[in-house]
Amino acid sequence: MSNVLPDEYLLLPLRCRYYVWCSTRKRVNTLIPRPVDYRGRRIRKQQSKAPLGGVARCYDILIQPDTRSATPMPVLPPNLDAVIEETWQRVRDVPGFLQEGEARFLGLLAAGAPANGTIVEIGSFKGRSTVMLASMAKHYGLGPVVAIDPHTTTAPTDPVLEKGSSTFEEFVASLRAAGVESFVEVRRACSREVAEGWKRPIRLLWIDGDHTYAGVKEDFQRFSPFVSSGGIVALHDALHGYEGPIRVFVEEILRSDRFGPAGFVKSIAWSQHRPDDGGAFREQREKLDLRARGLVPLLTNGNILRGFKKLRYNLIRACVPRAVISPARWAAIISQHTSKR
Ligand SMILES: C[S@@+](CC[C@H](N)C(=O)[O-])C[C@H]1O[C@@H](n2cnc3c(N)ncnc32)[C@H](O)[C@@H]1O
Repeated sequence: MSNVLPDEYLLLPLRCRYYVWCSTRKRVNTLIPRPVDYRGRRIRKQQSKAPLGGVARCYDILIQPDTRSATPMPVLPPNLDAVIEETWQRVRDVPGFLQEGEARFLGLLAAGAPANGTIVEIGSFKGRSTVMLASMAKHYGLGPVVAIDPHTTTAPTDPVLEKGSSTFEEFVASLRAAGVESFVEVRRACSREVAEGWKRPIRLLWIDGDHTYAGVKEDFQRFSPFVSSGGIVALHDALHGYEGPIRVFVEEILRSDRFGPAGFVKSIAWSQHRPDDGGAFREQREKLDLRARGLVPLLTNGNILRGFKKLRYNLIRACVPRAVISPARWAAIISQHTSKR
């Protein structure tokens, strides 16, 4: 791609005014005029010389942001690739529903969201996603993860949880085994109860609790007003035949100019809160809406997917882009900014 550049640098020209330098071998110094760190805080000059490189592959990323944007632009935290890899080795032993690609992506969202605030998890079950989130919080000093789950809910997503039984003991054991107990604020309650009186800004809102339309919509409506500019909303099981996550994603996020870049990674639907310039991403969101909206009527009113309906669902889902993306690619996506509104 670039014969003129030293071979250890890969220059990726992105749309508009962005360039990403990925170093595969060397450490790189930042040249960013006004960068923010992975917590959305402005990096001071001497800190901006901190090495970002060192880890193999294209995860060491340097983004030249458009400083006119009100949304902080990301500088991915150091050694993210290695930290996610190490964490996955612990997460893989925790019982739960998150696949490998999803777990790694969730770690990226937690560590890479260019915003201040708390990581909020709705639906912890036995702690699989909690361990990934809390490990990122521990490593990068992001404050405790608020993990909300009554641990007694019988839900369609928990076929093995019998009435009256609890996942709480196993949840706590998972946190203890991973050494992240003190990085989790456990809220043993329904999301609705925690939402009453909630006032804290949120950097990542991870919705994986009640998967009905009413349940997901309520979680979204109660917590999303607290998501900081630049923060992320992510919903699990959006492509697993549940009505709630996909319908809320299509109707409340893809059709809202308060949100910017959006996508699917496996069954996680995600979008960045961009209240100031979300309109610039309308075209991108509309394209995704076009691909995904056909899934919604197949699932409304508690429809069960069987026979011809299931076939149609699978065909429509096959057209929804949902490949795993690298941290560098994701950072490039959320760094886009255009003046088009
Ligand atoms: C699909 S599981 C979560 C899986 C978990 N995130 C993981 O990685 O394995 C759904 C969880 O949501 C919880 N839940 C259901 N309704 C809820 C609500 N209204 N508020 C909080 N948690 C809820 C259930 O108790 C269950 O443990």
